[in-house]
Amino acid sequence: MTAERFLFHPVSASVDLPAGSPVAARLLGAALVLWRDELGTAHAFADQCPHRGAALSLGKVVQLRGGARLQCAYHGWQFDGTALCQHVPSQPQWSPPASHCARAFRCVESQGMVWVCLQPAAASEVPQLKLDAGCKWVHAISGPYAVQTSAPRLVENFLDMTHFGFVHDGFLGDVGHTQLDAYDVQENTDSELPAIVVPDCAVWQPNAFEAGAEASGQLVRYRYEVIAPYSVTLSKLGEQGRLFIAMLNCPLNDHSAGDAQQTKTWFWIAASGLNQTPAQLAAFQDLIFAQDLSVVESQTPKRLPLGAPEVHGPLDRVSAAYRRYLKRITVSVGVVQ
Ligand code: FES
Ligand code: FE
Repeated sequence: MTAERFLFHPVSASVDLPAGSPVAARLLGAALVLWRDELGTAHAFADQCPHRGAALSLGKVVQLRGGARLQCAYHGWQFDGTALCQHVPSQPQWSPPASHCARAFRCVESQGMVWVCLQPAAASEVPQLKLDAGCKWVHAISGPYAVQTSAPRLVENFLDMTHFGFVHDGFLGDVGHTQLDAYDVQENTDSELPAIVVPDCAVWQPNAFEAGAEASGQLVRYRYEVIAPYSVTLSKLGEQGRLFIAMLNCPLNDHSAGDAQQTKTWFWIAASGLNQTPAQLAAFQDLIFAQDLSVVESQTPKRLPLGAPEVHGPLDRVSAAYRRYLKRITVSVGVVQ
């Protein structure tokens, strides 16, 4: 069993899980059904009815006097928030034993996202997205994006400052300003999080915060934190204000998927001083991520190679540290050991 199965991963934005109906999701090869009870509490079960294996996500949430239940679409068996089967319509007097329960996973709603851990004992809590106090933040979540590559390839791309002038020319970089100063990388090797911090790196950007802004250029201070194996945050500080972006990735496959890697990605965004609406923040991130995707989805292998054969340049220090981290904590999904 490898590290990722003991961690919480994002599986849905809160707004995409309505009160009245179940939603199918996927995490590390497991098919899930997400639903909300009468209090609005989110639950995650295996998307497989214990009776005859039908997908519970085809069912519906029924509101009863005793509380909400998830009702299977096939024979109408009903499961409560603890996953116990409470009602079998073909035999309504019968009390099903505990063995007839659905399979529940640990599910936590936090920071506008629904997070699931597949093991009963989570090795850590939900990653916390920490914003500087005292700033007036505007929030947005962009995505989900369905990406045909592994979560580690996406995290490494997000950490990579040397592609801006090429992939994001005229937006996050300029082909005439591709040189980057050396930067410091701090690695936490004692299992503390964040696992990796790039405390301060100056990046020249023509248009760091929004589409259509004046292309005059400025030095923007970047700070990265790797907060989980598949999630990373960035704080940007420029003349106009601050931008905080968390890239949250849900790895859809387990280790048996080989190079058929699929990831669901969200960007959790907060801005201060930039005078932008949530819709504008999300639209700019859509634009930037679309630029990344054609390159990132072309990379082979789609799993991140933790050893040979890829080579590093001098300013690939943060991605080299990220690979060391994944190797150290024995992640198996999304990587080639
Ligand atoms: Fe779900 Fe029969 S398969 S109630
Ligand atoms: Fe990029």
